[in-house]
Amino acid sequence: MTKTILGLSGSLRRASFNAGLLRAAADLAPEGVRIQTGSIREVPLYDGDLEAESGLPQPVRALQAQLAAADGLLMVTPEYNNGVPGVFKNAIDWMSRGEGLALFVGKPVAVIGASPGGFGTILAQNHWLPVLRTLKAALWTEGRLMVSRAGSVFDDQGNLTDDKTRAQLRKFLEGFAARL
Ligand code: FNR
Repeated sequence: MTKTILGLSGSLRRASFNAGLLRAAADLAPEGVRIQTGSIREVPLYDGDLEAESGLPQPVRALQAQLAAADGLLMVTPEYNNGVPGVFKNAIDWMSRGEGLALFVGKPVAVIGASPGGFGTILAQNHWLPVLRTLKAALWTEGRLMVSRAGSVFDDQGNLTDDKTRAQLRKFLEGFAARL
C-alpha cells in the first residue's frame, strides 16, 4: 500500500533552496511512497483572538487535513539567526491548535534543511527538537541531512542539481520511509 508523507518547506522565497530540496524529495521518493507538498504561504500570523472568534483559518485546516491523511511529516527547514524561521514555526503552532494537537502525537517526523553556509541548518534542526518533543511527535533520528553550501548544489531556480546530494537525499528518504 502506498504511504504518504506530507512535505512542508519553511521558506516562502520563489527560488528557495528548501522548497527545491522538498521538490527533489518528491522526485526521489522511494517506491511505494508519495510525498505530498503542503503550503504554509496562506497561513496568517497566529492570533488567539482570531482563533477564538473565527476558529482555525482555512489554510490551517487544510494543512491539518493533509497531516491527518499522511503517514509521516517531512519538514524542510531554513535556518534564520541560528534558529527556526518564524513563518514555519507560526504554521506549526497553528497546526497544533484545536484537533491538530492529536495529529502530531506519534507521527513519524523527519527534519532536513539547506543553507548557503557551512553548517547546513544544523542549529535550526536542533531548534525543532523541543517543539517536536512537546508535540509528542515520533522524530526519526537515524538519518540526518544538512545541505550546506547550497549555492553550489542548487541552480538559480532552487533546483537541486548536485548528484551526490540527490543520492544522500534518496538514502535519507529510504531510511525514513522504512520507519513509516
Ligand atoms: C539567514 N540565513 C542564515 N543561514 C544560516 O545558515 N544560518 C543562519 O543563522 C542564518 N540566518 C539568517 C537570518 C535571516 C533573517 C535570513 C533571511 C537568512 C541565510 C539563509 O540560510 C538563506 O537566506 C537561505 O537561502 C534561506 O533558505 P531558502 O529561502 O533558500 O529556502
